[in-house]
Amino acid sequence: MKSYKLPKFASKAFFAPMAGVSDPALRLVCKELGAGLVVTEFVNVHAISAKEKQLGADRIMEFVEFSEKERPLSVQLFGSDLKKIEEAVKVVTKHFDLIDYNMGCPAPHITSEMACSALLQEPELTRKIFKTLVKHSTVPVSVKIRSGISSPDKYLEIGKIAEEEGLAMITLHPRTVKQGYSGKSDWTLIKKLKESVKIAVCGNGDIETPKDAARMLKETGCDYVMIGRAAAKNPFIFKQVNQYINTGKYSKISERARLKYFFKYVEYTKKYKNIKVSSIRMQAMNFSKGCVGGKELRGALIPVKTLDGIEALMKKFYNGLA
Ligand SMILES: Cc1cc2nc3c(=O)[nH]c(=O)nc-3n(C[C@H](O)[C@H](O)[C@H](O)COP(=O)(O)O)c2cc1C
Repeated sequence: MKSYKLPKFASKAFFAPMAGVSDPALRLVCKELGAGLVVTEFVNVHAISAKEKQLGADRIMEFVEFSEKERPLSVQLFGSDLKKIEEAVKVVTKHFDLIDYNMGCPAPHITSEMACSALLQEPELTRKIFKTLVKHSTVPVSVKIRSGISSPDKYLEIGKIAEEEGLAMITLHPRTVKQGYSGKSDWTLIKKLKESVKIAVCGNGDIETPKDAARMLKETGCDYVMIGRAAAKNPFIFKQVNQYINTGKYSKISERARLKYFFKYVEYTKKYKNIKVSSIRMQAMNFSKGCVGGKELRGALIPVKTLDGIEALMKKFYNGLA
């Protein structure tokens, strides 16, 4: 059976794919701050295939923007049409170091198209999808899943299929689709998955501090951890996790240092044509979370429509910090 080995990662902590959040500029910031792997926002296989026809295979990076500095870099795909998956894989495999397949997104407008988490209840189709991904890829393939639809009863079956079909890694966000983001993710499921497969397991869900990351690694035995929302607020978490894993301690990051990176993020965004002002505003809001006066700042950011306006407000806030 065909299967590719994962590359060597500089850190066990990965930055989660987040639509509208993990754009190439934020991914680069996370990478610079120590993330072992960064993953693009999810991309529809139909869109890749259509763009390839429109732009040509070599210009796909104008559609899925990224920079060489992000490597190792994973592209996340979704969609269940086997022909389109084949076409998309043939395009992305030339540009990315890994291909991740999304079986976790619970959004009804996506699951109604038999994509993402809806596939958790379709093991036969899932197997065909995994076969197609692996067959046409020249880089390792991974999958990101939730634990089940309304109860946590699908993740072990999907994990087995992933292993049997030659996938290199499985990431589990141990909440059900029904849960959305409510309640807590159940890390005991990550442990069960790790015990049931030989391929790499990446644990995800509710890591908020470096200690959480270390605890997930220890309690579940998972190979890697993936951090989403906490990293969007504080990309320094990767540096802190690496410090904590290596030394048992980590340095505190000041609000000023965190916000300074916001301006770096803005500089990076200027290199990409697909990043919208709304994303930059959201990042300004994310970076200000936990800062004194951040709530008022976020209120003031809502009506601002231009990048200059956002930068001006953020500079004023930054200069006013203690
Ligand atoms: C705004 C947002 C967008 C997301 N988009 C994606 C996505 O495109 N692909 C994906 O696999 N997961 C997506 N997720 C889920 C995250 O990757 C992650 O599994 C989830 O947030 C739990 O991790 P956390 O507690 O560290 O945030 C998204 C989450 C959020 C909050």
